[in-house]
Amino acid sequence: MSTTNHIGKPTSRVDGPAKVTGAARYSAEYNVPGLTYGWVVSSPIAKGKITRVHADEVLALPGVLQVFSHENVPSLAWFDRSYKDDVAPGGSPFRPLHDNEVKFSQQPVALVVAESLEVARYAASLLRLEYEEDKHETDLETKRDEGFEPGRGKTGWMPPPPPRGNPDKAWEEAPHRMEAEYVHGAQHHNPMELFATTAEYHADGKITAYDKTQGVYNVQQYLTKIFGLKKDDCRVVNEYMGGGFGAGLRPQYQVFLAVLAALELKRSVRVTLTRQQMFSFGHRPHTLQYLKLGTNADGTLAALQHHALHETSQFEDYTENVVNWSGMLYQCDNVKLGYQLAKLDVYTPLDMRAPGAATGSIGLEIAMDEMAYAAGLDPLEFRLRNYAEQDQNLKKPFSSKKLRDCYHQGAARFGWEKRTQAPRSMRDDAGKLIGWGIGGGVWDATQQKSAAKASITADGHLTVSSAAGENGTGTYTIMTQIAAETLGLPIEAVTFKLGDTDLPEAPVQGGSWTAASVGTAVKNTCEALGEKLLKLAQKMEGSPLKGAKLEDVEFVNGQIRLRTDASQAVVLRDVLQASGETKVEADSSAMPDMLKQQPYSMHSHNVVFAEVKVDEELGTVHVTRVVNAVAAGHILNLKTARSQVLGSMVWGISAALMEETVMDHKFGRYMNHNYAEYHVPVNADIHDLDVLFVEEEDDIVNPLGVKGIGEVGLLGVAAAIANAVYHATGKRVRDLPIMIDKLL
Ligand code: MOS
Repeated sequence: MSTTNHIGKPTSRVDGPAKVTGAARYSAEYNVPGLTYGWVVSSPIAKGKITRVHADEVLALPGVLQVFSHENVPSLAWFDRSYKDDVAPGGSPFRPLHDNEVKFSQQPVALVVAESLEVARYAASLLRLEYEEDKHETDLETKRDEGFEPGRGKTGWMPPPPPRGNPDKAWEEAPHRMEAEYVHGAQHHNPMELFATTAEYHADGKITAYDKTQGVYNVQQYLTKIFGLKKDDCRVVNEYMGGGFGAGLRPQYQVFLAVLAALELKRSVRVTLTRQQMFSFGHRPHTLQYLKLGTNADGTLAALQHHALHETSQFEDYTENVVNWSGMLYQCDNVKLGYQLAKLDVYTPLDMRAPGAATGSIGLEIAMDEMAYAAGLDPLEFRLRNYAEQDQNLKKPFSSKKLRDCYHQGAARFGWEKRTQAPRSMRDDAGKLIGWGIGGGVWDATQQKSAAKASITADGHLTVSSAAGENGTGTYTIMTQIAAETLGLPIEAVTFKLGDTDLPEAPVQGGSWTAASVGTAVKNTCEALGEKLLKLAQKMEGSPLKGAKLEDVEFVNGQIRLRTDASQAVVLRDVLQASGETKVEADSSAMPDMLKQQPYSMHSHNVVFAEVKVDEELGTVHVTRVVNAVAAGHILNLKTARSQVLGSMVWGISAALMEETVMDHKFGRYMNHNYAEYHVPVNADIHDLDVLFVEEEDDIVNPLGVKGIGEVGLLGVAAAIANAVYHATGKRVRDLPIMIDKLL
């Protein structure tokens, strides 16, 4: 029996105690000596020029150190490409305080630095800037005919595959048809933690940036290129994050401003954005989707067409995969997918949890529901009849796909067979309308190059590290589990460190790839360390492991022992002590096995069953039950994985019923840029959420068989709720969120 099999167990967060006791430090909590404070001044206009900065007026205030604006920013990197980061889309990145041009409302136009936060804030409130306003355009509706196909996208973006079959003719001739437009408003990331950077200035001119980011190496490369710093002189740290959701994939302007000020003033500087300013650096784009589906008499899809148009900024072409999924989730031989951008005077959109797929699955899955009704089919039965056995976009089989089991197990858990198809046909005892709906989706299972190092000390404690990120997802915990299991140690004997450019390089924490990428690197590294430990064990006097190869032994219960005879073992701690070494170290990295993976399509899938109750008189919708069945390979930790999916489900409820950033086009400004008016669910909105994992065996995706669950759980949640609302009320809402006015 092994006490050291940790992978798959619902291990509690190893970082939990640090978080609840306050020992965990967030970016704005590093109280370095001599700290000064920067306060950002944001543009009130959406487009135009700054004609004057009355810096002298606030520089006279006691405690004010400097006012940074385009007028006095020192010479920095000259070229746009220096401002590019790992996840930058095509175009010319925003360069804060670069010139007098205003490109979007709330653009940072100045930074006031003072000895105290209070003085900085007060001085910023007094700073007068004069502007010459230009006419702006922020309404996507005006750009319907100006969409263009992006040439080059950011990492992971794929242009839609070319059409297959004869999608127009097939649609025209299909016995059952639907066509409709779906509208998705802009959404902003609203993690609890504000974006913040504490830039520590060291006496030797080096900088340590404690920055809220999902990628410390990405920020380091950005800063070194812009400020001409050597890597050794610019360390970036992020040990804890109060939520990221993609907002921290790109370096945000607070890190630029904090480091700029620190280098200029030769002082440590902290810049924390306000909640309002959190609405000024990227968002899930406002997206219009048009879908046309046709179905044959036997309930198979005859044609599928999906076109999307979304906003981008004037200076970058932000891309995400909105429509591609529609070519692979269901079997259909006649498919046409289109994808266009339109330029507006807004900041560049930004990856937000399941970028593209979250939006696309709303369009596709509501359309599938409409199609099922038009064809007289139960929405689950309709999906089962159109199950994709292979990825028709790539013409490849899936490395694994247990979506069918998700459909069956999820339906059983939910009790779907008790559903009656007709809208308005189900009510509860109190007379409220009941609606049941389905949604779902597909997400990439990818692996990125990652490195790690491991070190075990004479007391038997293992420390493993990699510059990965933890934005609350469970990275610390799953990496600890992988390391502990690989070397047969208890969880308590392992420390995992992350989020620091002094550690081996890891990719930005996004795309649901961290478990697969960094997890594999951690596994490889611990195996390399195990090999060293075996060699040392074999040098021990009377070692029972003499002559054994690595594959002949296992690391279990703090021992190295023969697989064939568990009694032939040595205790790891004894190995270290006998060796006389104070510690043994190893490092390694991991890359995807391209050759093995090339023939396959690798994806995670899910299906969501939702119940709503609608009060007809008030138009209120309550999401009373949701079952989310997820097939995402091997689940490393049932507890943190479930929490990930629960969080997604809460967000799906939010997207369906509450969440939207409202732009006043007269000002070109997001008006509800605060927690009071940007609605997200509270405890009272959340009822019975149930997560079900269908495990998949998959040794093609990566040696751990994991696909990642950060994003897949969000897919189809909002659509399932919208479909449930239709089932309850007979009203088809195609413009989310479904607020009361749309139902009355
Ligand atoms: Mo996620 S949007 O890739 O942080």
